[in-house]
Amino acid sequence: MLLSDLPIDRALLSAACPWIPTGPVLDLGAGHGQISELLQAYGFPVTAVDEDTRALAAVQAAHPELQVVECDLRQFEIAPEHWAAIVCLNVTPFLPQADVEALLMHLAAGLKPGGVLIFSGFHADDPGCAYLMAEDAHGQPAPTGQVSLALLPRFFSDWPVWFAFEGPVEDDHPPQGPHRHVLSQWIIQKPEVPLATINWSALPRLGTGMGWRAALHEEILASEAIEFLEIMTDDHHSPELDQRLLALRQRYTLVPHGVELSPGTPGGASEAYLKDVARIVARCDSPWWSDHLCYTHSPRYRTHSLNPLPPGEESLATVLSNLKRARQNIPRPLLLENPAYYAAVSPDPLQEAAFFKQIVESADCGILLDVANLMGNAYNLGLDPYTYFDALPAERIVQLHLAGGRLLEEVLFDTHDRPIWQETWELLRYVLQHSDVRAVSLEWDDNYEVPARILEEVQALRRVQRQFGLRL
Ligand SMILES: [Fe+2]
Ligand SMILES: [Fe+2]
Repeated sequence: MLLSDLPIDRALLSAACPWIPTGPVLDLGAGHGQISELLQAYGFPVTAVDEDTRALAAVQAAHPELQVVECDLRQFEIAPEHWAAIVCLNVTPFLPQADVEALLMHLAAGLKPGGVLIFSGFHADDPGCAYLMAEDAHGQPAPTGQVSLALLPRFFSDWPVWFAFEGPVEDDHPPQGPHRHVLSQWIIQKPEVPLATINWSALPRLGTGMGWRAALHEEILASEAIEFLEIMTDDHHSPELDQRLLALRQRYTLVPHGVELSPGTPGGASEAYLKDVARIVARCDSPWWSDHLCYTHSPRYRTHSLNPLPPGEESLATVLSNLKRARQNIPRPLLLENPAYYAAVSPDPLQEAAFFKQIVESADCGILLDVANLMGNAYNLGLDPYTYFDALPAERIVQLHLAGGRLLEEVLFDTHDRPIWQETWELLRYVLQHSDVRAVSLEWDDNYEVPARILEEVQALRRVQRQFGLRL
C-alpha cells in the first residue's frame, strides 16, 4: 500500500488512520500536539510525550482527554508490543547518532504486531546536520542525529512500507521564516505474527449478542442482554465507516462476519478484499472473524447467495487453498458457518457433515454453527439435525447463530425476520449441552417495527445460554 509520495502532512496522516489497528497511540516528541490532536479526534487513545513543559501544558489544557507525559523522550519507557502506532516526527536532530539508533530499536520493539510506525527525521543533506543540535549524555552539544531510508532494511527488514520519502521540504516557522529541510520519512507496519495451531478452548467467552443493525442501534445500546456485537464485514469496507466501529468497539467486543470470502470459488477472494478484511478485523480487534463455507460467485458470475459446496476432492482442494491464503492475510482465528440451502448437494447429508469436519480440521478453522440453518436444512431436505450435529467436531464450535425463518409452501426460508422456531430452541439446547460454545448471537434482518420483541429474543437466548452453562 503506497499512501502518497509527498511528505508527511495532515492529509497523509488522516489517510493512514483507517489502517492503524485499534489500540493506544504514542506521540513521541509531541511538541504543540497537532498530531496528537488529529489522532485523538479520530478515536485513538493518545499519549503525548515531550520535554517542553509549556507546550505540553497548552496541549493538555486544550485536550484534557489526552494523556501527557513530560520527560526527555529518552527517559520514556516504551513498553514492548504495546502500541498500535507510534508517531515520532523530527525529534532525531536533538539526539546524538547513537541515541537515534537506540530509539529506532525501542520503537520497533514497542509496537504490537500489525502496529504502525510514523517517522520523520533529518537526512544528512539537511542544513541542520552541519550543526551541533543534539546533546550527549552529559548535556554537552553533539552532532545532529540523522537518518535515511537506508536504515529501513537494517532496523525494519521485513516491515511492509506504506510510505517512504526522502528529499527537500519547504518549512516556514518562526524565528527563521521560510527555509528548507531535507527529511527522511516513512510509515511502515510491523509484521503480523503468523497463527500457530489454535487452542479453541482458550478463546474468550463473549456471552450473548446480536448482529449490529443501524435500525436497532439505539435499542442495542440500551439493552442489558447484549454482551457482544457481530458486525457485517462487507458493510464496513469504506474507511468512512471506521468511526462507527471505533465507537462500538469502545463499548463491545466486535466480531466481523462476512459473506464475500467465497472459499469455494477457484482463485478465491482478491488480495485487495483480503487486505480490507484484515483492516476491519484489526479495527475491531476481534478474537475471531467468520464467513461461510460456500461459494457466492464463480470467477465470472456473482450469485448473490451463499451456495453450499458439493463434497469432493475438487471442492476440498479449492477451499483449502483459499482458506490458507485468507488465514495468511488475516492472522486471527477464522470460523466457518454452515449456510442455509434448499436443494441437496450430495446423496447423503452425513457426507456433507464429514466434508465440513475435514475442512475445518485440515484448515484449522473453527465453526460458527448456525443452528437455525441446520434446523431449516433438516426440515427442507429431510435430514436429522441431531445426527448431523453429532458428526461435527464439537470442540471447534465457537459461536452459534440463531434466527427465525419463514415457512412458504412447505419450504422453510432463512429470512431472519421473526422469532426463533420452537424446534430450533430444542436443537439449541442439545447443541449447548454437547459443546462449549463461546458466543451465541441472534440474526435479525427485517421487520424492525417492534424492537422490544427482537431484544426479548436476545434475552431469551441469554437465559438458555446461562442455563446450559456458558461459563463467563
Ligand atoms: Fe452468516
Ligand atoms: Fe447465520
